[in-house]
Amino acid sequence: MEKTINSKIRKVTSKDITNIVKLHRKVVSQTNAKLYEPNIIKEWLSQITTENVKNQLKVVTTSWYILELDSKIIGFCQFPIAKRIIYQLNIDPEYQGKGYGKTLYNFMEKKFIESEAKEIELNSTLNAVTFYEHLGFKIKQNIKYKLIDTEMDMFEMSKILGS
Ligand SMILES: CC(C)(COP(=O)(O)OP(=O)(O)OC[C@H]1O[C@@H](n2cnc3c(N)ncnc32)[C@H](O)[C@@H]1OP(=O)(O)O)[C@@H](O)C(=O)NCCC(=O)NCCS
Repeated sequence: MEKTINSKIRKVTSKDITNIVKLHRKVVSQTNAKLYEPNIIKEWLSQITTENVKNQLKVVTTSWYILELDSKIIGFCQFPIAKRIIYQLNIDPEYQGKGYGKTLYNFMEKKFIESEAKEIELNSTLNAVTFYEHLGFKIKQNIKYKLIDTEMDMFEMSKILGS
């Protein structure tokens, strides 16, 4: 368990599933909805379910961590460390812009460095491109990420570690 000044990062357990689903749905409907069309948000939300998170948690090669502030979950991240990829990083809209995203990112980066990764890749939402650029990522290309019937614009980004 890692402690920062007033927050704590810990592994996700099955007891957290309901709160993760709630938080992720809040982030998509309040933050991502600012830059994506309603039909995209609708399909995106339809995929954020207890069942899906439960199934994804069974994949033991993917790490999930939560950022808690006074025992309240305010963020989470998901990353399959061996693949050198970040799947997602989400911070509660009420706590964005206060350094918590960077705290959780730095935690993940430390884990990648410990596993001797040389590079990290991710698909960034339109909302997070500037955030990742601040953290040293470079845009590789604009991609269309398939949801169900629609596709969403994202940016493939990467960061060389140790540079
Ligand atoms: C992207 C996200 C994780 C960033 O977390 P955050 O807690 O808001 O960001 P922080 O406060 O830690 O910001 C860290 C740095 O990035 C900068 N930054 C963060 N978001 C930014 C934005 N949208 N535009 C410009 N700069 C931004 C901050 O100014 C800060 O810079 P500094 O270190 O020089 O002070 C969060 O806003 C979020 O959950 N967004 C919606 C979900 C999402 O799309 N996630 C990405 C999935 S790939």
